[in-house]
Amino acid sequence: MNHVIESQQFDRKALEKLFKVADGFEKKHGIPLRGKIMASLFYEPSTRTRFSFESAMLRLGGSVITTENAKEFSSVSKGETLEDSIRVVSGYADVIVLRHDEEGSAKRASIVSDVPVINAGDGSGQHPTQALLDLYTIRRELGKVDGIRIAFVGDLKHGRTIRSLAYLLGKFKKVKIDFVSPKGLRVGADIKEYLDRHGVYYEETENLDPVITEVDVFYQTRIQKERFKNPKEYTKFKGCYRIDLALVKRMKRKSIIMHPLPRVDEIATEVDTSTKAVYFKQARYGLLVRMALLKEILGS
Ligand code: CP
Repeated sequence: MNHVIESQQFDRKALEKLFKVADGFEKKHGIPLRGKIMASLFYEPSTRTRFSFESAMLRLGGSVITTENAKEFSSVSKGETLEDSIRVVSGYADVIVLRHDEEGSAKRASIVSDVPVINAGDGSGQHPTQALLDLYTIRRELGKVDGIRIAFVGDLKHGRTIRSLAYLLGKFKKVKIDFVSPKGLRVGADIKEYLDRHGVYYEETENLDPVITEVDVFYQTRIQKERFKNPKEYTKFKGCYRIDLALVKRMKRKSIIMHPLPRVDEIATEVDTSTKAVYFKQARYGLLVRMALLKEILGS
């Protein structure tokens, strides 16, 4: 059984294999998953992850059963536990794509499921398939991952995409990471411990200025309003790092700007036409990577 729970579980060989399959799907794909069913169980809102997984499954000839607001539209609203829901749904589908607001929920689901569970985001925990498509984007746009310098900017405390991608980057050579955030939104100690163990060079700063001219990848993130218990805390951090064209002009010639999306106001829309802005392409690459992942898990 191939559960996808956290990004650390992929080694470089598995990543290369997956990305090669994703490259192939750019041109043609056939229908290798005809007769297979994917259940998408989303307890939190999503546009990209749910639609790209569903589109991926349909493009591969499979079928989809789905609930987009599981808290309201599934029997969770009557008090059913996640475990019971998963036990039941795993009898109806060949793979379950789960997004949930609690960290560790995908792991819990995988323990009771009869079919593979794919973590589509578990609270502030991880979002491994986002990290896969982020890495794929870097590889496609820069032609390499080894040796890059990347700045993670914004809400590094709650951002699960940052966590998952940092874990994956730990598997590459000579990567440098700049964690740029306000003091109250710093990246977790678990990530730093992991990077220390894997010999990855990183720095933490509140100041974007010295970093902007140096990086190959500027990975901007949204301040995650929904994760703050006190709305006043969110207001304190809102708008803390905003990219506009003036800032973009200072970046290295071949650098790129990424964002997992959705964006609120942290990237001015004037940046969208810059050749450095790859965040919409990044979302499109997500389709190819998720097709590859579903084929790897379900294909014979
Ligand atoms: N990047 C991402 O996970 O987007 P959604 O929340 O729209 O799925």
